[in-house]
Amino acid sequence: MTDIATIEQLAKKKGFFYPSDEIYGVLSGFYTYGHLGALMKRKLENMWRRFFLDEENFFEIDPSVIMSEKVFEASGHLKSFVDPIVKCTKCGTYHRADQIVESFLNRTFEGATPEELTKLIKEHSIKCPKCKGALQEVGILNMMFPIDIGAEKDLKGYLRPETAQGVYVNFLTQFNILRKKLPMGLAIVSRAFRNEISPRQLITRMREFNQAELQIFFDADKVNEHERWNEVKSYKLIALPLNERDKKSSIEVSCDELSKRIPKFYVYYMAKVQKFFLEDLKIPKEKFRFRELSDEEKAFYNKIHWDMELNLESLDGFKEIGGVHYRTDHDLSGHQKVSKQSQEIFFDNKKLVPHVLELSFGVDRMFYAMLDLFYSKEKDKVVLKLPACLAPITASVFPLVNKDGLDKMAKEVFDKIKSSFDVFYDESGSIGRMYARADEAGVPFCITIDYDTMKDGTATLRERDTTKQVRVKIEDLTSSISKISEGKKIEEVGKSIK
Ligand code: GAP
Repeated sequence: MTDIATIEQLAKKKGFFYPSDEIYGVLSGFYTYGHLGALMKRKLENMWRRFFLDEENFFEIDPSVIMSEKVFEASGHLKSFVDPIVKCTKCGTYHRADQIVESFLNRTFEGATPEELTKLIKEHSIKCPKCKGALQEVGILNMMFPIDIGAEKDLKGYLRPETAQGVYVNFLTQFNILRKKLPMGLAIVSRAFRNEISPRQLITRMREFNQAELQIFFDADKVNEHERWNEVKSYKLIALPLNERDKKSSIEVSCDELSKRIPKFYVYYMAKVQKFFLEDLKIPKEKFRFRELSDEEKAFYNKIHWDMELNLESLDGFKEIGGVHYRTDHDLSGHQKVSKQSQEIFFDNKKLVPHVLELSFGVDRMFYAMLDLFYSKEKDKVVLKLPACLAPITASVFPLVNKDGLDKMAKEVFDKIKSSFDVFYDESGSIGRMYARADEAGVPFCITIDYDTMKDGTATLRERDTTKQVRVKIEDLTSSISKISEGKKIEEVGKSIK
């Protein structure tokens, strides 16, 4: 059983992530990625970029994270980006009211109004989870962090609560610089900030976090088509439509079938998202699903909203990792109104304000999910079976013993292959300890230099998941590792040894 404490312990021990500024006591909701974490996060983000930005007119931009108050007046965040909060009359703690009611009644209350939540708290005599004190009436809190700008601090800005707004305010500039063509995709992979009332579950609910979001601008008249539709039409999506909620945890439905009630442009990108998780990140199929949200649950800017979820043992079930959002022209039209600058373009012989389909993901939640899903305990050993393309360190190199020139030779091998992969040199402790350390850090390959290396120039290459070992010539190590990572069996790249 993988519980949250196990993941927390492993993350801290190996330096994947841990609370920030710990020497001053923990400020909750802020985390640091340590050396392994930073490497793996970068690989995850790059895989996301390679996969989602592979279309002809799709690009990445990197705007500022502090944005003017006007931006959020236009987007609706000033008014609508709020959470219901409730204060305990005894201990003074603030809680997310919907979460308290949710855990008491064991159902979701996303989208419930403060009045409805107050009524439920009274009806069911729900008390403060911390001290059992009585709770006040439910109020609301805007989740954005305000920033005072300038010497007199008279200019008001906010840390962006979603990267998306950084794209919308740049839409027209980029459209004119780029190909003046739709669909156009603009992505941001960077920080977002929310003053979460109860940051919790480690890096899955933080106050400063990372998003990978892609805004796809398209002509609303073409929402029922996609030029690559034929590639996905018979592809089966794993999904939980609203009408199946009380019966199943998910069903399989072909893109063609779903497109009878959800626009093809939207369904095409659902397929793309699923392929990323199942094929690139190697997530087991039964752990994945899309969940359709009801009108009350949808984000205020969405016309169609399906969350993308993964079933995580340490978090007791399916957890939202991202979403496919049909935001229509909500944002561009909002910016047009408040800035008084037309966001219209001329395309396909007509004037239009494009619609937006957003693919939105939390990088930290994807990261956490990978630790949860690929954690395994074998006898008393922890093995993190991360896919090779995501593992922070691809290969560990060590000498069988730290003497007789084996250490010098191991360092030479390390130097030789370090420009091809992220490699780690280790020489402390027994060979068993070094393998165990590598397994726990998710290193897919270990290379051991021994006395035979001195004689015939071969090394032992060991595969983490099968623990199979082969002898490989030193000059063939990088190509052998690449071949196995691409799917070849280890016994096909070298001479098997027991
Ligand atoms: N632009 C749309 C948007 O921001 P969202 O559902 O509010 O939509 C997108 O956020 C994703 O960002 C979520 O699915 C989640 O993975 C991640 N996310 C949101 N709040 C987070 C938080 N406080 N800490 C970590 N990740 C968060």
